[in-house]
Amino acid sequence: MDSILVLTLLLAGAKADSYNGLGQTPQMGWNNWNSFACDVSASMLETAASKIKSFGLQAAGYEYVILDDCWSNGRDSNGNLQPDTTKFPDGITPIADSLHQQGFKFGMYSSAGTQTCGYYEGSLGHEQADANSFASWGVDYLKYDNCNNEGQSGTQELSYKRYKTMSDALLATGRDIFYSMCNWGEDQPWLWADKIANSWRMSGDIGATFDTVSPDCPCQQTICTEFGGACSVLNILNKVVNITQYGGPGHWNDLDMLEVGVDRPGMSDTEEKFHFSMWCLTKSSLIMGNDMSKLNGTSYSILSHAPLIAISQDPAGIPASRIWRVETEQKDENGFGFLELWAGPLENGDQVVALVNAAPVPWDFTVWLDDIFQKTDGSGDKTSRKWDIYDLWSSRLDSGTADAIIAGTESWESHVYDATQKSYADGLRDNDPRLFGNKVGTVPAYGGMKVKISAHDVGIFRLRRP
Ligand code: GAL
Repeated sequence: MDSILVLTLLLAGAKADSYNGLGQTPQMGWNNWNSFACDVSASMLETAASKIKSFGLQAAGYEYVILDDCWSNGRDSNGNLQPDTTKFPDGITPIADSLHQQGFKFGMYSSAGTQTCGYYEGSLGHEQADANSFASWGVDYLKYDNCNNEGQSGTQELSYKRYKTMSDALLATGRDIFYSMCNWGEDQPWLWADKIANSWRMSGDIGATFDTVSPDCPCQQTICTEFGGACSVLNILNKVVNITQYGGPGHWNDLDMLEVGVDRPGMSDTEEKFHFSMWCLTKSSLIMGNDMSKLNGTSYSILSHAPLIAISQDPAGIPASRIWRVETEQKDENGFGFLELWAGPLENGDQVVALVNAAPVPWDFTVWLDDIFQKTDGSGDKTSRKWDIYDLWSSRLDSGTADAIIAGTESWESHVYDATQKSYADGLRDNDPRLFGNKVGTVPAYGGMKVKISAHDVGIFRLRRP
């Protein structure tokens, strides 16, 4: 084989993986933006981290604690970014050290623009100096925004170059820093960012709403030129449908932070469960956005639900895809009313199946193996055998126990899967029953399954070989 061909094959292999070796499964953590916006401080981070730890959410896999916008106060005379000393009296390093001592990783925020979205100092033109500052402070994750970019967007090449400059700068520090691009899907990052980043936002900002239609979130399609905020769960899900296939180990579609447990305006329990489930299936980041001091048992029992997290963290890293969609005659007040089947293969040969009811009425679904395996390799072999059905939400923690864990009267250890002791990959390999929900039936060869799903709910199942 000649050397050019060998090199081409090596490059093709590298593309399918992580450009810096990080993010083999989607990132998990917490970020202050959704609940605290610019009201940031060292004590806010410390309080959040200590609760994430004492609730067992760190053990469940949420490892990054991420400080968002509004933390800085210009540059010093050498051009280095300065933390705001009223918010961070001892600077950033002690916070990073303290988080590291507690077993967390630490994330920070900047913008690929002259200013951030909150009009603080941006990193455009200062990429290497800022990457060096982040590395010297002990930062493990950079969320890199898109505001005030001086017109350096509008073509894929412009966006790619601007984001690559920081990518290269981070690599040059020699520190492992997860690179989370936040350019809202502008210039289709799913087509080029896998080579330079670990994840890319694919939509304008999420709001704590299931189906609101708002002028603040003007775009309903995958490819947008206006972005905005307050995008609903259904708006973002409808956008990602066409690009799920671009996510994979080391480079993920980021559907934005979780709104589970966020109450402005907030979602019902079934809607929060729907939101979390679909973020797991599509292999989005799982970055909690709630105020840990206000967390209630029902939201906790969603965020800590190991059978769903094990779908997100499945070692194969294959996002599920939508198989079909049917519009219902019944619409909610915002005009949404549809049903969908999503499915995707998992590392151990199981298949994850989602029955999505985005209609305002309960629905009796009948779905067939033919459809469930339609987009999966070797589908013929798979439809000609029988499968056991495991309902992944059937083992959900009851909210009384969850409330007691939050109150500190019950310890999380006997209820939450501790991924720091046994990774999700190992648990899946061992068939650890805590990751599989409960068996609820069997699909015969060439058969189907019939399930009733409530309005705005989703059924999530694993099909397993008997
Ligand atoms: C937005 C970004 C949000 C948040 C905010 C801070 O552009 O999408 O997640 O970081 O900026 O100003």
